[in-house]
Amino acid sequence: MEFIKLTLEEELAIVTIDRPKSLNALNSQVYQEIIATLGQIKDMDEIKVVILTGSGDKAFAAGADIAQMVHEDAMAGRRLSGLCHDAANLLEGMRQVTIAAVNGFALGGGCELTLACDIRIAAENARFALPEVTLGIIPGGGGTQRLSRIIGVGRAKELIFTGDQIDAQEAYRMGLANHVVPKEELMDTCRALGKKIASRASYAVFLAKTAVNSSLEIDLKNGAEREKDLLGLAFATHDKREGMEAFLARRAPDFKDF
Ligand code: CAA
Repeated sequence: MEFIKLTLEEELAIVTIDRPKSLNALNSQVYQEIIATLGQIKDMDEIKVVILTGSGDKAFAAGADIAQMVHEDAMAGRRLSGLCHDAANLLEGMRQVTIAAVNGFALGGGCELTLACDIRIAAENARFALPEVTLGIIPGGGGTQRLSRIIGVGRAKELIFTGDQIDAQEAYRMGLANHVVPKEELMDTCRALGKKIASRASYAVFLAKTAVNSSLEIDLKNGAEREKDLLGLAFATHDKREGMEAFLARRAPDFKDF
């Protein structure tokens, strides 16, 4: 891998987009490496949480690579969008919980990667935007679909139609960032949150992620049916028996599933 660094820390995988000279701009190779890395992590049973961040202290990722896109035609643009969606879909659907550690600019495709993560933690210097209309294009990595699901259609349309940047505090107020922390505390905050989630019954966390994701795609009645089925499945696990027996015996649970 040239542009992605993978660090495994017990149950955490830290994926770093590492192209700091271009503010971690996302060209096709970077997207392919993100996809390959997430594909590898997806099958690692010992990994419970993925933290996605950018290298350097300025940017998470400043968007798709404009120097690449400037020469591309419609089909190439569509192919690039396909890569953006593949990366985002992996983050959203993978068994592990995904946390975006937003350490600076998260623009365009960079912002879209954070939108596909389950949780976003912003450093005080984080800035979010979907500036595509300033370049004559539209968001192509799920921004037109996921932003409104997170912050509401009215606010999403204003951000997408203006291309304006918002800072970390504004992102927090809108519900885009779960927390805002000083820059130097960003990774430790993400690690602490990741370890807390990893200490829970990880198969149950995955079932909960699946159920919540369903709520964005299907109606309430069918979503409730899905929830019933997934809870039934949880009742069939070792971790359900262990979690409840441990509670009644007033001891710490020893979760094993996944
Ligand atoms: N693509 C390619 N190169 C980029 C880039 C990008 N998205 N963002 C920054 N860079 C490069 C700059 O060209 C510059 O390279 P050189 O040193 O070789 O000139 C280097 O990174 C540093 O950038 P700046 O000098 O511009 O740094 P700055 O502090 O003055 O500005 C910034 C920072 C506001 C993030 C500015 O770089 C910027 O506006 N970048 C573009 C942001 C953008 O429009 N992103 C959306 C892309 S479209 C997209 O993502 C579509 C999609 O969903 C598929």
